[in-house]
Amino acid sequence: MKTIKIKLPESSYNINIGPNLFRNILPNINRLKIGNFAVIVSSKAVYSYYKAQIEKNFKGLPCKIIVLPNGEGAKTKESLFKIIDGITNVDKLGRKIFLVCLGGGTIGDVGAFAASIYKRGIAYVQIPTTLLSQIDAGIGGKTAIDLRQAKNILGTFYQPKAVFIDPLFLRTLSEKELKEGLSEAVKYGIIRDSRFFYFLKENYRNLLSLRPSAILRLIQTCAAIKAKIVEKDEKEKKGIRTVLNFGHTLAHAIEAVSKYKKISHGAAVSVGMLYAAYLSHSLGLCSHAEIKEIKDILAKLKLLVKINFDYAKIYKAMSYDKKFIRGKFRFVALRKIGQVKVIENIPNNLIRSTLQKLNASV
Ligand SMILES: NC(=O)c1ccc[n+]([C@@H]2O[C@H](COP(=O)([O-])OP(=O)(O)OC[C@H]3O[C@@H](n4cnc5c(N)ncnc54)[C@H](O)[C@@H]3O)[C@@H](O)[C@H]2O)c1
Ligand SMILES: [Zn+2]
Repeated sequence: MKTIKIKLPESSYNINIGPNLFRNILPNINRLKIGNFAVIVSSKAVYSYYKAQIEKNFKGLPCKIIVLPNGEGAKTKESLFKIIDGITNVDKLGRKIFLVCLGGGTIGDVGAFAASIYKRGIAYVQIPTTLLSQIDAGIGGKTAIDLRQAKNILGTFYQPKAVFIDPLFLRTLSEKELKEGLSEAVKYGIIRDSRFFYFLKENYRNLLSLRPSAILRLIQTCAAIKAKIVEKDEKEKKGIRTVLNFGHTLAHAIEAVSKYKKISHGAAVSVGMLYAAYLSHSLGLCSHAEIKEIKDILAKLKLLVKINFDYAKIYKAMSYDKKFIRGKFRFVALRKIGQVKVIENIPNNLIRSTLQKLNASV
């Protein structure tokens, strides 16, 4: 088992990574001394795949399981109150309740949000089960639910007591969900670690076939990068966490235009990273070779490099984001693989012409 420590002023914790970690979860949780009754929050799919293992691995610890819908449907008011009601039903004298988020990023977000507001905060641990949540969502203490008006509109910063990452969960993940994580892994390489970027490129076959050593290195590297960034800017106040938004400006516009349905987040980020590279090149910040490298790695990992969209519509969606066009928008630009720079005030015509360039190029 590898442990990455995340050092924060008031709430340091360990990210533990290793195959079969879930099988030995109980002693690991007991060691934390965070309570004597676990409310386990999970999703339909995870529960149906892992029901027997959950029952076996938590045997000996009084607990209750709450099963929420798959996907974004878990991040609703209804799910939040299902968790809160579930906790209040078992909250009795002598019980110290803590939460276990066992699922993808959606379960992690809603479970952690519930933990952060119940009695002004109870302990929780993250056991992320998708690649995206193992390298991103499960780390860093951002919690959220969606409202009809917007995604992630209600939320808090609230750190877990520990994160337990078992790559064996990925064996039941669909290729589509695996690619959601791979796209963010490429992002980590681009923003912070060129050696890791080239590792991903050389090992694309091993990654797509879930070769344990390759997947483990990917998770460990990404988790360590995310941990470092969170340590430096826990509550997103210093602009350091902004680098995690590389590729996300266009991605959010694509998702808005596709109404969060047709194009997945990972696919939108993939195209968005290519766009960020083109825009950085137009700004004279990186060379054309960088664009080619990014295009190559995305294609190798079977990630999206082109979408058939009305680019005028996308530009419009981007311009609704006032921060981007008029206000002090912060754009994460590429210098070279492994190095980015946050810049402000990009000329509108460049934003538009780069969209056309991206459309015509691939
Ligand atoms: N808090 C953060 O810092 C942060 C960062 C990035 C993303 N997010 C959030 O994360 C969410 C996306 O998370 P996600 O990509 O993990 O999606 P998800 O949680 O929706 O999971 C995807 C699907 O896979 C299923 N699943 C999960 N683990 C499985 C497994 N091991 N085997 C088979 N099926 C499994 C789920 O039930 C679901 O149907 C978004 O809501 C996003 O806003 C949060
Ligand atoms: Zn993302």
